[in-house]
Amino acid sequence: MDVRQNTILITGGTSGFGYAFAARLLELGNTVLITGRNQAKLDETKRRLPGVHTFRSDVSDPEAIARLYQQVVSEFPALNVLINNAGEMRKLNLQDPTLDLRDLTREVDINLVGPIRMVQQFLPHLKTKKTAALLNVTSGLAMTPFPLAPIYSGTKAGLRAYTKALRVQLQHTPVKVFELVAPAAKTPLADPFAGVMAESMLMAPDKVVAQAIEGLQHDRLEIYPGLSRILRYMSRLAPGVLLKQMSKGVTEAFAQPRVKA
Ligand SMILES: NC(=O)c1ccc[n+]([C@@H]2O[C@H](COP(=O)([O-])OP(=O)(O)OC[C@H]3O[C@@H](n4cnc5c(N)ncnc54)[C@H](OP(=O)(O)O)[C@@H]3O)[C@@H](O)[C@H]2O)c1
Repeated sequence: MDVRQNTILITGGTSGFGYAFAARLLELGNTVLITGRNQAKLDETKRRLPGVHTFRSDVSDPEAIARLYQQVVSEFPALNVLINNAGEMRKLNLQDPTLDLRDLTREVDINLVGPIRMVQQFLPHLKTKKTAALLNVTSGLAMTPFPLAPIYSGTKAGLRAYTKALRVQLQHTPVKVFELVAPAAKTPLADPFAGVMAESMLMAPDKVVAQAIEGLQHDRLEIYPGLSRILRYMSRLAPGVLLKQMSKGVTEAFAQPRVKA
């Protein structure tokens, strides 16, 4: 697809990959719209990238998605690309008896249900365009779970499966369905995992985004930057070995002091 002169909505555009996408896509001559929950972060992004249009919206709230849709299509009827990027990743000990049942599935609501609802809301509009695209940001962890972040891993595997199915359903429409299988990168999302993921393994978000945009340009429907390519082959050739590798540090991270009976 042509990566210039589109009107592009990016969920979660105030840091990490979303911010890097916004900056690069603006440079390429696109109209760029971003969302986020935090108004101060949206204002700061607008200050750093004056060309960007900001919308405060929570992707886990269906009513907020409906409001966002009304506002975006009335102000930017040329919208033809949606990047489902917003996401959250938490270290969760599933043996912790204090975990709240409602809060437990927060990543499902943001990372999986969010993109599904966004697609459903914006698809009829995208289908009216001559060329249109959806890009879902999954993760190398869609191909092998990372036991320190169990719910997150489940959301990304689910989003990957959904994206593949969506691509088949939309094959005879103008809407191309892309998946960015993002590798571990140096963004705020990865901060709580410092020490578990070696700093040298973390890619710069603008490098990931440069490869993603190159993938879009060449109509590569599944884009595997950096270590994601290796994870892809390892997950097929030696899934057990890979899981063992990804499981390092779990016991230590969640070690409980022994309580006497
Ligand atoms: N960094 C990595 O190592 C890595 C690896 C593979 C895949 N990914 C994926 O890449 C995507 C972007 O992650 P990142 O690393 O760039 O994270 P990040 O720097 O923490 O950025 C996340 C963005 O999403 C927004 N956001 C979070 N929850 C939201 C919600 N409910 N509604 C709307 N916006 C929301 C945040 O703003 P507010 O908090 O203000 O809402 C922020 O703008 C995620 O889908 C993540 O799973 C990241």
